[in-house]
Amino acid sequence: MSALFLVFLLFSSASGGTNPASSPDPFTAGVSLNIDCGGAANFTSEFGRAWVADRYFSAGATGLVAEPHRFLQQQERTLRFFPPVSAGKKNCYSVPLPSGRYYVRTFTVYDNYDSKLRTPSFDVSFEGTLVYSWRSPWPEAAARSGAYADLIASVLDGAANLCFYSIATDPPVVASVELAAVHPLAYGSASTGTDMILINYGRLTSGGTLFGPGFTNDSDAFSRVWQSDADFRSLDVPIKALSAGGHRIFGANQAPNYFPVKLYETAVTTVNPSDALEYLLPVDTRLDYMVWFHFAEIDSGVTRVGQRVFDVVIGEENATRIDIYKEVGGFNAFKWHHIVENLTSTTLVVKLVPVAGKPIICGLENYAMVPLDLATVPRQVMAMQALKESLRIPDRMGWNGDPCAPSTWDAWEGVTCHHSDNGQNLVVTQLDLGSQGLKGYISDQISLLTNLVSLNLSSNSLGGTLPSGLGQGSLVSLDLSSNQHTGGIPDSLGSSNLKVVLLNNNQLDGQVPEKLYSIGVHGGIIDLSGNKGLCGVPTLPACPLFWDKRGLSTAGKIAIGLSCAFVVIVLLLIYLFCIRRQNDDYDFEFPQDLISIAAKRNRYQRQKLMLVEMEAPNSNGFPSTSNTR
Ligand SMILES: *[C@@H]1O[C@H](CO)[C@@H](O)[C@H](O)[C@H]1NC(C)=O
Ligand SMILES: *[C@@H]1O[C@H](CO)[C@@H](O)[C@H](O)[C@H]1NC(C)=O
Ligand SMILES: *[C@@H]1O[C@H](CO)[C@@H](O)[C@H](O)[C@H]1NC(C)=O
Ligand SMILES: *[C@@H]1O[C@H](CO)[C@@H](O)[C@H](O)[C@H]1NC(C)=O
Ligand SMILES: *[C@@H]1O[C@H](CO)[C@@H](O)[C@H](O)[C@H]1NC(C)=O
Repeated sequence: MSALFLVFLLFSSASGGTNPASSPDPFTAGVSLNIDCGGAANFTSEFGRAWVADRYFSAGATGLVAEPHRFLQQQERTLRFFPPVSAGKKNCYSVPLPSGRYYVRTFTVYDNYDSKLRTPSFDVSFEGTLVYSWRSPWPEAAARSGAYADLIASVLDGAANLCFYSIATDPPVVASVELAAVHPLAYGSASTGTDMILINYGRLTSGGTLFGPGFTNDSDAFSRVWQSDADFRSLDVPIKALSAGGHRIFGANQAPNYFPVKLYETAVTTVNPSDALEYLLPVDTRLDYMVWFHFAEIDSGVTRVGQRVFDVVIGEENATRIDIYKEVGGFNAFKWHHIVENLTSTTLVVKLVPVAGKPIICGLENYAMVPLDLATVPRQVMAMQALKESLRIPDRMGWNGDPCAPSTWDAWEGVTCHHSDNGQNLVVTQLDLGSQGLKGYISDQISLLTNLVSLNLSSNSLGGTLPSGLGQGSLVSLDLSSNQHTGGIPDSLGSSNLKVVLLNNNQLDGQVPEKLYSIGVHGGIIDLSGNKGLCGVPTLPACPLFWDKRGLSTAGKIAIGLSCAFVVIVLLLIYLFCIRRQNDDYDFEFPQDLISIAAKRNRYQRQKLMLVEMEAPNSNGFPSTSNTR
């Protein structure tokens, strides 16, 4: 192993295994953005949070909640909604961000903004993975006062894509979007990997009240908001709230999770020594969960190991035994986390069972671990974006975000996708965009759609030439009929596996590739009628001499080339005969022997020219003779 390689190893491990050449960590750079959806102006909230006017959205319209006085914060009152009729079924906020891990919070609210008294149902995805479902009817409380939701996920492609998908005909609606970079190793990402989204199912402060940036003047390095645990505790167990009472807590606010000190300043414990503290956490049995426990011994009466000991039981599983004092002593933060799999009930019961003294807890977090969904092959995403532009796809078709993902949603309108052969990606297999009033042209990036089986762009107003990459091996059916395509038919179409080729009613001309025509001979369907000047196969006129599918044939080019050469030779002769002779009258300083050679040649040419003039029946017909005077 060379010394250089060792240095590289040291360097890359010091930087957390990330590419040393990459841009600085967005967390240490403090990257964050708060978007007031539907808002027209930038502003700073009463808690010193900077909000920007609505931006980075794909389409939609702005609205205002019906009863603004019910919403304490300005960004909660203005809305962006996406009517599927005009904006399409799928709409996104696509926010340019450096690669990294981010905390993402949305606020969605209905509050009868459209006076229809009909709470909508829609789904939300982040980076192509379904993260939230709000199915109708929303709980009345959420519909009225709105719902905050947050998650932690990686952004690796230069933009955070938060997409909203209309179920049925309801317009999705969103009031605010907040993004803040978090530490790349936060929440155990070193072991769980970056191909996992952590969706908040509860972030509780025990014995405290709601706090966090944007809601109170308290800080949290990740912008996390902590809500009271009161609604999640079992009501059967009487509890006592504790406070650190001004004692300083050590060990909080440290990398990589930066849990706020305030979290450890309150706690709950039981009243009866034999009671277990009990939390009931809502869960989805299809998912695995990561549960974080926050402890600190903030009772100055506990001063030694073994005085307060309890077991943590998650579901049916006795997960660990905790003696905070033994771990960190008094007034020090202590955290522990556990992954819960194979749930059978929609309520996860978490118990702190006393062994010695009463159990105590400062906070609890519960995250669903959602594996990333499959995504469309990146080259095909590029191709689809190029086609969106070149075909001038209207907003109402909702061509936003990933063309195929999330796999549980429909693909972009008119697009059909399948799993790739290796099952690792999604690929575009069919484009059905007939009669959509499209006016652009076909981008040659269409050749990147290497799994495309069927392309139907019939009855639009598409122009331009057919891209030479069209006719990928996968393509079986091609319907470009009734458009305004011009130029020739590319050779690539002849060498494909096409069975159906409808190019009728365009402005195509030139020679039809013979192989393409043979599709019809071999039982396929081909229609080339109604074009401007296609030629060269049976049923079509013969091609004019020197003319093929690209216009001039090779023979034609050779003929033109020869003609040009002929003209050049004639002009050269004229020059030599006439102009050069005239030039002799000027005093050009040629080297002596060159002059003499030229003079000799000129003398000879003059004699020859005189001969020609004498022989020609009409010497005046020779245009350059005037120069010889
Ligand atoms: C809001 O602030 C951003 C910079 O953060 C600026 O680019 C934008 O023009 C501002 N918009 C308005 C409406 O003032
Ligand atoms: C939050 O802090 C700022 C200054 O730091 C202060 O102006 C503001 O009034 C505080 N807001 C509340 C609600 O306490
Ligand atoms: C629970 O598990 C811990 C170790 O994980 C163990 O020390 C303790 O005795 C167990 N408690 C019970 C009641 O079995
Ligand atoms: C959950 O189930 C899977 C497969 O059924 C199994 O491999 C895994 O060990 C289980 N995990 C736990 C914690 O029981
Ligand atoms: C292409 O789509 C049109 C509808 O827009 C349909 O009538 C036609 O049959 C389709 N062509 C093929 C080859 O399926």
